[in-house]
Amino acid sequence: MNSYWVDTTKRPEFPKLDKDIDTDICIIGAGITGIMTAYMLLNKGFKITLIDKGEICSGVTENTTAKITSQHGLIYNYLEVTFGTEFAKLYLESNEKAIRTIEDIVKKENIDCDFMRTDNYIYTCTEEYLQRIKDEVETVNRLGLNAELIENTKLPFDIKLGIKFPNQAKFHPLKYLYKIVEILKENDVQIYTNSKVVKVEEKGDGYKVETEENEIDAKYVVMATHYPIKNFPGLHFLKMYQDRSYVITIEPRSKITEGMYISAETPVASFRPINEEFLIIGGSDHKTGENGVDIEVAYKSLETYAKEIYPSMKVKYRWATQDCVSLDKVPYIGNFSNIMPNIYIATGYKKWGMTTSHVAAEIIRDKILGKENKYEEIYKATRMQALKNYKEFGNMLRQSAYSLGINKIKPSKYKLEDLEKDSGGVIEYEGKKVGVYKDKDGKIYAVEPYCKHLGCELTWNNLEKTWDCPCHGSRYDYKGKLITEPSVKDLDKADI
Ligand SMILES: Cc1cc2nc3c(=O)[nH]c(=O)nc-3n(C[C@H](O)[C@H](O)[C@H](O)COP(=O)(O)OP(=O)(O)OC[C@H]3O[C@@H](n4cnc5c(N)ncnc54)[C@H](O)[C@@H]3O)c2cc1C
Ligand code: FES
Repeated sequence: MNSYWVDTTKRPEFPKLDKDIDTDICIIGAGITGIMTAYMLLNKGFKITLIDKGEICSGVTENTTAKITSQHGLIYNYLEVTFGTEFAKLYLESNEKAIRTIEDIVKKENIDCDFMRTDNYIYTCTEEYLQRIKDEVETVNRLGLNAELIENTKLPFDIKLGIKFPNQAKFHPLKYLYKIVEILKENDVQIYTNSKVVKVEEKGDGYKVETEENEIDAKYVVMATHYPIKNFPGLHFLKMYQDRSYVITIEPRSKITEGMYISAETPVASFRPINEEFLIIGGSDHKTGENGVDIEVAYKSLETYAKEIYPSMKVKYRWATQDCVSLDKVPYIGNFSNIMPNIYIATGYKKWGMTTSHVAAEIIRDKILGKENKYEEIYKATRMQALKNYKEFGNMLRQSAYSLGINKIKPSKYKLEDLEKDSGGVIEYEGKKVGVYKDKDGKIYAVEPYCKHLGCELTWNNLEKTWDCPCHGSRYDYKGKLITEPSVKDLDKADI
C-alpha cells in the first residue's frame, strides 16, 4: 500500500537516461539526501545531474514519518559518554540548525508543505528507563537545549517519565521535496529516473558512472543511494546494517494534533499526528532479513496496540520501510574513502534522516566548494572507530558468517511440496537450494537465493512477498527484481 504522503501528492516525472553525458556533479539517488544536496549546490557554477533507479523519492523518503527533530532517541548521554561533550554538542547543534534550515527554505521558496513547529517527546512507561531519561535530560540541558522532564503527555495513556524537546517541527515531506525538484528543474539540473547505476569507477581525474545502458562522466560523485552501492574501498558494509519498521496511519476519532512521540523502550512505539484527522503509529522494528522474526504479525501487532489505545480507530494506510544504522549510531557523511577524492556519501541516519539529510547536504556542498564545515569531523564517513562497538560488530560478523557460510552449506529442511499456496522459502531441489514463491494459484517463481551484493543467503518475507538479505538489507521481489540497495543486480532465476 502507498504511504499517506504518496497518496496525497502527484509525483513529478522525468525521462530515463538514454545517452552518454558529461557533468560536473553526478548525484546518484533522488531521495531527500540527493535532492537537498543538489539544491544546496545550485548557482555555484556547476553542471549537476541527479539520477535515480526508480522515481523521485521512491526510496525510504516516501515512507518516512517525517518528524523534523534533533531528538534522535536517547542519544545525547551516549554521545557524551562515548565521544565527549564537544562531540555531543556539535551533533545537537547541527540537527537544531537543520530544523531552522528547513524552515528558512520553506519560507524563502514559499513552499506549501504543512510545515509546523511542534514539540517532540521521548517517553517511558517502564521503571527500567527512568534513570536513562533523567541522565539524558541533564546532558541535553548541559549541551545547551532547554529540554524538560515531563510526567504527562497528550497521549491517551499514562507514562512514567519523558523528555520534551521544544519547538521541533513536522511537514509533508513530498510536498516539500517535489517543490524543491521543480526548483532544480528551473535551474537546469538534469534529472533522470528509472536509470539504475550499476558501477562507479575512476576515469581520468574524475569518475565514470555506469547505468545499465549508458555512462555519465563526472568530476564529483555523490552516492546518495541510502546504502552506498560501492563496496570498496569505503568498506561501509562492515560498519552498517539496515533496520525495518512498520507504519499504520489511523483515524483515531479522538484528536491529537500536538506533539510527536516515541518510546524509549523497545519495541519502539512512535506517534505522529498528520493533521486533525490522521495519526501515524510506527513500530515492530527488526533487522532487515533477520532469521526467526515473525514478520507476518508486524501490522497486526501495531493494529492491536492502536485498538487498545483508540478502540474506535480505523486503519487508513499501512506501509513499511527500512533505514541504515551505523555501528556507533552516528551517520556517515563526507568522503567515501581517503584514497578516492571527490566521491561522497551520506548514510546511516538510523531513522532520523529529515534533519540529517540537510546536515549532509551542507557538508557535501562545502566539501565540493573546498570550504570548511564545522560539523564534518563528527560525521566523517571514513572513520573506523565504529567497529569498536564490539557487540554490534560481533552480531554483524556472526550474521555474515551464518548467511555466507554455515547456512549456505546446510541443506534446507523444506521440499517444494511443503510450501503452501501464497508462501515462499528456501527449499532443497535436486541437491541444491532454490528460493521459491508459490502464488495463490500455485504458480511457482524460483530464484537462486543468494544476494547479489556479497552473496549472503536470503530469507523469505511472506508479508511483503520479498527476498530480504540479513547481511546488509538488500531486498528483491518474488521474481528476483532488485528493490533496495546496496545490491545493484537482480537475482538469477532458478530452473525448477
Ligand atoms: C519507518 C521509518 C520512519 C522514519 N521516520 C523518520 C522521521 O520521523 N524523521 C526523520 O528524521 N527520519 C525518519 N526516518 C528516516 C528517513 O526517512 C530516512 O533516513 C531518509 O528518508 C533517507 O533518505 P535518503 O535520501 O538517504 O534515502 P532514500 O530516500 O532511500 O533515497 C535513496 C535513493 O537512491 C536510489 N538508488 C538506490 N540505488 C540506486 C542505484 N543503483 N542507482 C540509482 N539510484 C539508486 C533509490 O531509488 C532512492 O530513491 C524514518 C525511517 C524509517 C525506516
Ligand atoms: S546486502 Fe550485502 S550480502 Fe546481501
